[in-house]
Amino acid sequence: MKMIGFCGSPRRKGNTEILMQTILDEAESNGFDTEMVYLADADIGFCKACDACHLPSGKCIIDDDMESLVQKMKESDVWVLGTPVYWWGPTAQMKVFIDRWYGFYSEELFKNKKAILVVPMEDSEEKTASHVVGMFQDSCDYVGLELADIIVAKGVRNKGDVKEKPELMKQAKDSVSKITAQAKTTMKTKN
Ligand SMILES: Cc1cc2nc3c(=O)[nH]c(=O)nc-3n(C[C@H](O)[C@H](O)[C@H](O)COP(=O)(O)O)c2cc1C
Repeated sequence: MKMIGFCGSPRRKGNTEILMQTILDEAESNGFDTEMVYLADADIGFCKACDACHLPSGKCIIDDDMESLVQKMKESDVWVLGTPVYWWGPTAQMKVFIDRWYGFYSEELFKNKKAILVVPMEDSEEKTASHVVGMFQDSCDYVGLELADIIVAKGVRNKGDVKEKPELMKQAKDSVSKITAQAKTTMKTKN
């Protein structure tokens, strides 16, 4: 099993990365291969809505890192998608990545994959994350991607604040057991 993190925060060692790395470390000790991709370091162009991807040739015309990122998505079983709340939405780095799924969309890409969503923010009101969470819930629903867990980390502003919140660190670790428990149940059902 492979778990890959797509970190949408441009702030290295920030709250998003810390929570995501906690999940990946826990997964690694449960036998997963893991990898982290920093979207801020990737070359990902804006979707131009040219619809070339919808022609019979079906290929996105933008020549950038997206093809190799999609390859990594294909090769992984679980995707950890992390973005802090920026102005009630996701970061631009995360949004441009998600927009480009349009050009690589296929049922196969999302079938049997699971995602864990990580959303840190300064505010302490759950509602402030509602657009980000709703965007992912509806998008995952649309593409047939199972959103297995959602971690909204409230009240974290400065780099590393989340380390002072043991309940959030625990929630991150526990998200892995949710995935592995689900996998075991699925195997039992199949047998
Ligand atoms: C440009 C920008 C916009 C932000 N907008 C919000 C916001 O709308 N609501 C909120 O609660 N926090 C907001 N924040 C705070 C971040 O969500 C918070 O600092 C988060 O912990 C950052 O995650 P990171 O450490 O991974 O960078 C904003 C921060 C920045 C830099």
